[in-house]
Amino acid sequence: TFELSLRPTTLNQYIGQQKVKENLSIFIQAAKMREEPLDHVLLYGPPGLGKTTLAAIIANEMGVQFRSTSGPAIERAGDLAAILSSLEPGDVLFIDEVHRLPRSVEEILYPAMEDFFLDIVIGTGPSARSVRIDLPPFTLVGATTRAGLLTAPLRDRFGVLSRLEFYETKDLCSIVERTAEIFQTSITKDAASEVARRSRGTPRIANRLLKRIRDISQVKGEKEITIETTDIALEMLQVDDVGLDHIDHKLLKGIIEGFQGGPVGLDTIAATIGEESQTIEDVYEPYLLQIGFIQRTPRGRVVTAKAYNHFGLKANDEA
Ligand code: ADE
Repeated sequence: TFELSLRPTTLNQYIGQQKVKENLSIFIQAAKMREEPLDHVLLYGPPGLGKTTLAAIIANEMGVQFRSTSGPAIERAGDLAAILSSLEPGDVLFIDEVHRLPRSVEEILYPAMEDFFLDIVIGTGPSARSVRIDLPPFTLVGATTRAGLLTAPLRDRFGVLSRLEFYETKDLCSIVERTAEIFQTSITKDAASEVARRSRGTPRIANRLLKRIRDISQVKGEKEITIETTDIALEMLQVDDVGLDHIDHKLLKGIIEGFQGGPVGLDTIAATIGEESQTIEDVYEPYLLQIGFIQRTPRGRVVTAKAYNHFGLKANDEA
């Protein structure tokens, strides 16, 4: 699809995440020299940082097929058995949200990962018997928001653990410029930096904002995206000066106005602002923690003086 064509297909095209790329590049090279499949890889980190993209790149660099599914999509052991037994030797199987695999599926995955076989129980009661199915050697690439969401036995079976970090503004700027080029759209240097600076360290957000800014620029009849149009567009999109959106504001203001800045428990704040706890924890909190707008304490979340300052408010006490 067109959307997929935005994604880089080689490690060299992939911008940022320098440490992750350096490591993967060596492990891929070594596996290819030995003519073995790559060890299983766990990619973890906040959404939108390129875990799926990297998984597809790993397959491409290894010269194997890329097969993709997700934890919640594999409901029964038989579903996993069907996928695994249809792989070609060396293939990459990508499981997004790998922490959401049902426990019964996870258990049959252990021997599959470790020794490339499945133990499937057929029938029930006294006639139940276990059959062993040999599998082609394969590479499992799992993705999750936090490594801590995985059970220890599953986590232990990944040979490579790579944590994706929020992108630096300069890397996001290169991504915005690359995407603009694919769109055959011109953008000034300062407009691209501005989109980058206000994208919460996240390529998915940068690319989405760029698309909407391009719409606005196009309707205005401009031949190039300027900083002026970018500022107007980001205001229309309710993206503030540091890149926080409407929901970030609701979350921070909810804690400030409803709980005097906290501490307040995650579930309490979730109920107050009408968002899922899990969404707050996986999607919104990580960046707010990164920029020091909230802190996690044993008694709950606290909004910092820095965040109060951002809203032109004064904190009652030091967070
Ligand atoms: N598009 C989205 N993420 C990217 C990345 N890390 N490198 C290049 N292009 C991208």
